[in-house]
Amino acid sequence: MRRTARRWDSDAAWRGAAAQSPTELLRAPTPAAWFDAAAERQHELLLDHANCEKKAASTALALMFAYADDFELTRQLSRLAREELRHFEQVQKLLMSLGLPYRRLKPSRYAEGLRAAVATGEPARRLDLLLCGALIEARSCERFAGLAPRLPAPVASFYRGLEESEARHFTLYLALARRHADRHGLDIEARLASLAGTEAGLATSPDAQFRFHSGAPQVRGSSSSS
Ligand SMILES: [Fe+2]
Ligand SMILES: [Fe+2]
Repeated sequence: MRRTARRWDSDAAWRGAAAQSPTELLRAPTPAAWFDAAAERQHELLLDHANCEKKAASTALALMFAYADDFELTRQLSRLAREELRHFEQVQKLLMSLGLPYRRLKPSRYAEGLRAAVATGEPARRLDLLLCGALIEARSCERFAGLAPRLPAPVASFYRGLEESEARHFTLYLALARRHADRHGLDIEARLASLAGTEAGLATSPDAQFRFHSGAPQVRGSSSSS
């Protein structure tokens, strides 16, 4: 009885009451080389970060349209979408204050790669989409935590605040996924293991592009990976 109440309490998840560490969810840590590249490429990092905040809001909205009959899901994801848009406004303000101009960037392989692993039929699809949401937010949380000590003051303090938000977000997505799996008798652990494996591959294997969610930076002018 107690276990059920805790599992379905997405308000508690929103408050961060049951927040886990992102490392409990992620299969592999971000490579140190990615953090080194991010510290050197702050303009691209912030531009892509702004895109990620917009995408996070639009993903939440897409789920609200897809599962409009689920009032708990739409209520929680509406709050999340508003928070993501506030983050977007904060990143944009930071770009302006640092004198960094807008530039269009192609998205990374990350979201597309995860989406390719999502089941096409319901109720499995909803579980996968919510688990992907949890994994993306957990990776963002892990990267904000690792970036904060490596970046200059205004960005560092901003990123420390975002780490806390992303922890709440992945906890919420996980709570919604657990509730859905419980209702439909789906094996959440098996799906989480599979999707987390895909996510870890995308976030850690060599990647020609640098983005907020890209993999290990490829060494320029060399075919070796290090
Ligand atoms: Fe955010
Ligand atoms: Fe988020």
